[in-house]
Amino acid sequence: MKMKLSGLMIFAALLLGGCGKQTAAQRDALENAKPGYQVVKSYCSQCHSLPFGDQHPAAAWPYVVSRMEGHMQSAHKLVPNPSEREAIIAYFQSN
Ligand code: HEC
Repeated sequence: MKMKLSGLMIFAALLLGGCGKQTAAQRDALENAKPGYQVVKSYCSQCHSLPFGDQHPAAAWPYVVSRMEGHMQSAHKLVPNPSEREAIIAYFQSN
């Protein structure tokens, strides 16, 4: 089920290629109620579009998020606090 859903979203992204807004809206509709998604949206869309959880194995997400925190600090963007950081990692690991 999890795999099917993300496969579907990637398909939708490819299908709509170039129409980022609509893709983001569709993703929103699917993800809004999931734990962590609101936190992910507020921090991880400050610079680029939201990545998908299946872009990395679960074990790699803490490293990716730490690297992003470095980017956030150098770019003077909002940086998640420790509990928000946990929520972000948990979201990507389970979606
Ligand atoms: C301050 C701007 C900024 C913010 C905010 C930001 N990123 Fe990034 N992101 C970057 C830059 C710059 C790159 C390309 C360089 C790199 O990969 O480190 C990137 C690349 C990525 C990539 C592709 C590279 C890879 O390792 O797969 C992923 C995935 C990613 N970001 C996830 C996130 C997540 C998750 C968040 C929220 C926690 C986030 N980003 C927030 C700047 C940002």
